[in-house]
Amino acid sequence: MDIVPGLPQGKALDILQSAPTLNFDTSIMGTNSYQETAGSEVVIITAGLFRTPGMTRDELLLANMKIVAEVTSNVVSYSPECIIIMVTNPLDAMTYLAIQTSKFPRNRVIGLSGVLDGARLSSFIAAELKVSVADISACVLGAHGRDMVVIPRLTTVKGTPLTKLLPQETIDKLVEHTILGGREIVDLLKTGSAFYAPSAAVARMAEAIVLDKKEILPCAAYLQGEYGIKDTVIGVPVRLGKSGIEQIIELELTTEEKQALNNSAEAVRKLVKAMKLDQKEV
Ligand code: 2OP
Repeated sequence: MDIVPGLPQGKALDILQSAPTLNFDTSIMGTNSYQETAGSEVVIITAGLFRTPGMTRDELLLANMKIVAEVTSNVVSYSPECIIIMVTNPLDAMTYLAIQTSKFPRNRVIGLSGVLDGARLSSFIAAELKVSVADISACVLGAHGRDMVVIPRLTTVKGTPLTKLLPQETIDKLVEHTILGGREIVDLLKTGSAFYAPSAAVARMAEAIVLDKKEILPCAAYLQGEYGIKDTVIGVPVRLGKSGIEQIIELELTTEEKQALNNSAEAVRKLVKAMKLDQKEV
């Protein structure tokens, strides 16, 4: 669904016409009206402005909060039982806003962060170590941005921690590349942000829900004391199934990792405060 007349309709036809070649059967409808989205089981919200070169995700806050609040209200009125997957940036703050606006239980509002950031880290590790991406399990927690918490100690290649496979200097380079992965693409494209990797990541989250896969994935979730963090949204491992977030997995973290996660939560709290939600009827 999109506000641009014809855009979703054209995209839907184009995807549908790839079906015979890719051998999948489904129905896809493009629409400019929420009416035709009524009764959706899963709603993926990507509405909002994207970054231009040199911008941080945080700088999208004030513009995107208006769009996300309006879109979420419409989604809730047409699909009151749905599960929302947030993609719009700044991701953690927009996920928090969607929870506040929808008044959904926290298990039904999830943000796309660690699945995308972890995919970036995995792609860099695969290139560095010349291994298959299928053998890499990346551990990326925290906010989707500069404050993300990449955990090399818990990132493994077929069970071997990255810290045993690469020198610290190389690991630091891969971590920094992961943190800046989104910006790198925005700077190259000039008029857009990443598309294929976020799409693949959010499709994996949606599939875990729709197929009730009970898959454990790093997603932005509203914490109520897990990891010692309350009343904010950050990326943590969650078990995704038909009811959305079925469990928040609490990893054993070192003091340093815990501190980094708390710093990340603090950065999100600052953004949420800047939205002044307590002063508005959201
Ligand atoms: C990214 O990292 C769009 O935030 C998304 O590419």
